[in-house]
Amino acid sequence: MAEGRNVLPTGEYYNPNVSQYQQIYRRSIDDPEGFWSEHLNILDWFQKPTRILDDSNPPFYRWFVDGKLNASYNALDRHIKGGLRNKAAYIWVAEDGGEKIITYDGLYRRVNNLAKALLNLGLKKGDRIVIYLPMILEAPVAILAAARIGLIFSFVFAGFGAGALAERIRASGARTVITADGGYRNGKVIELKKIVDEALAETSGVDNVIVVRRTGHEVEMEDGRDIWWHEIVGDGVNYVPPEPLDSNDPLYILYTSGTTGKPKGALHGNGGYSVWVANTLKWAFNPSPDDRWWCAADIGWVTGHSYIVFAPLFLGLTSIIYEGSIVYPSPDRMWEIIERYRVNILYTSPTAIRTLMRYGEKYPKMHDLSTLKVLGTVGEPINPSAWKWYYDNIGGGRCPIIDTYWQTETGGFMISPSAQLGLPPLKPGSATFPMPGVDPVVLDEDGREVPPEIKGYLVYRKPWPGMFLTLYNDDDRYVETYFSKYKGMYYCGDYCVKDSDGYFWLLGRADEVLNVAGHRLGTIEIEDALINSPEVAEAAVFGRPDPVKGEVIVAFVVIKEAYEADTEIINKLRSRVRKTLGPIYVPEEIHVVKGLPKTRSGKIMRRVVKAVALDQLPGDVSTLENEATVDEVKKAIELFKKEASENEG
Ligand code: WT7
Repeated sequence: MAEGRNVLPTGEYYNPNVSQYQQIYRRSIDDPEGFWSEHLNILDWFQKPTRILDDSNPPFYRWFVDGKLNASYNALDRHIKGGLRNKAAYIWVAEDGGEKIITYDGLYRRVNNLAKALLNLGLKKGDRIVIYLPMILEAPVAILAAARIGLIFSFVFAGFGAGALAERIRASGARTVITADGGYRNGKVIELKKIVDEALAETSGVDNVIVVRRTGHEVEMEDGRDIWWHEIVGDGVNYVPPEPLDSNDPLYILYTSGTTGKPKGALHGNGGYSVWVANTLKWAFNPSPDDRWWCAADIGWVTGHSYIVFAPLFLGLTSIIYEGSIVYPSPDRMWEIIERYRVNILYTSPTAIRTLMRYGEKYPKMHDLSTLKVLGTVGEPINPSAWKWYYDNIGGGRCPIIDTYWQTETGGFMISPSAQLGLPPLKPGSATFPMPGVDPVVLDEDGREVPPEIKGYLVYRKPWPGMFLTLYNDDDRYVETYFSKYKGMYYCGDYCVKDSDGYFWLLGRADEVLNVAGHRLGTIEIEDALINSPEVAEAAVFGRPDPVKGEVIVAFVVIKEAYEADTEIINKLRSRVRKTLGPIYVPEEIHVVKGLPKTRSGKIMRRVVKAVALDQLPGDVSTLENEATVDEVKKAIELFKKEASENEG
């Protein structure tokens, strides 16, 4: 493999003894009982589990049976008692440069106060609550308050539009929503409260909306429904006892895109998930107590749930939370924050790296980045040239790059180098080896293990503690999506190659799911949003490889005869997608055609549209009904390229 050149980092902050990792890994597979009965002690339990794993009802695996614990207790109370009361939990950096530092004690007080207010509203264990907040301290406060009293929270990324939010409110059955008047992005206000109002106009069942004042701009407050956070959350001293939750009581639902128009609600539990995120953060990044950890993801995605909120707090670390855009007000924003706060570990996405790389080395060179000792990436495969840039220009050739491969469903890292357990020589673009307890294998279509260097599907043969409990309210889809392609084994939906040294290389999605800037988006959701526009008769959406974002969204639409297929319509469609699903879903290109390739049974052949548009071989077209449409697609692309080159010239 051309990219297979090994890199040996020169820093001192990792354990170079890869054979130690191998030993620990072996033990985790050979003696899971023994291994996990030790590693569950990374948390405090109100009651220790009586069994490590109940696998009597596969694939509904239940970890740490009969164990009782509370995530908020583990994130806060035990540190307050254990000597970290005055340590900074978060250094929050506002987009306008302001900062707030909150100690463990301060966070504890705020979480108790909100928990009290939520109880006063009548919320109780098992109730769902939707959190739709920007990157402000109230986000972790809301998560921890919910966890404290046993509510099941569902955080909706603040970049989602009203339609996507409404769908998640309905699907979770939440009666309470926590939001803010707005959030800041690129110096502008995103009107979150307004989006909540739009979502609630088409959804019933929500009794209360709690609104944080962040921007201070005027918002409408509906009498009897909407409440200001600061009016119900006191700043006094309250103590709300942490609910002793069962290890397999749900902690949260996080919706993620699948291959239908309906998002999947990954339901995570308390015990297995918490043990998993705490251990994996330690193994992969080896943070020491005095480090400053910066996971630059959004709290609304699983990366933020696991590695901004839960794991770093479980470990008693100090994290940076940055409110805004990484290029605002200038492309050195991240490097400036690293210098100002002397950050030691940076964990970000390949898209962010490629975006900043485009601005050139001049920006990182403006700052002292010498405090960095470990770097990480997540969300999509990292191409070797971005890896190299990150390694040289940000890590100064000292810092190992921890390429963590995982998913919303897995709760935490699955395949990743282990800076703490023993780091292997790194190969740029490979996530290297499995975390302890993870048993990956690369299979072909028929379930046979493929030889080294051959592409196949990544599958896990064994359950692991961080795995989700099910899809919320949809056990059948859980079994069908993840455990039916290969009976009894978890299918990730990703292509993978294991090289001849045993390194795993993740090669992108094998299903109709896109990965745009590290965000998982469903093609069908976008097609649905387009088809729900009165002007659109048919739509096909797919991803085009992109040097910065990994993939960008391309749509082909057929416009109904009654409408003029002009740029005005295209703009209308763009804004409709933005409004329903959110800005990240807006197609980069929308092409109008008279017809789309279909099978005789009338199914749109997205695969053929994509191949033709990307100038690839269309594969099997024996079921294609209307061949002329292939030329339509070709013509549309040629026209687009011509216009693009004219605009450039
Ligand atoms: C999908 C999961 C995990 C948190 C962020 C995304 C892709 C993720 C890597 C990586 C190659 C990666 C996969 C996966 N992915 N990390 N290090 N190398 N691909 O979470 O939205 O659940 O998406 O992201 O395709 O299936 P998600």
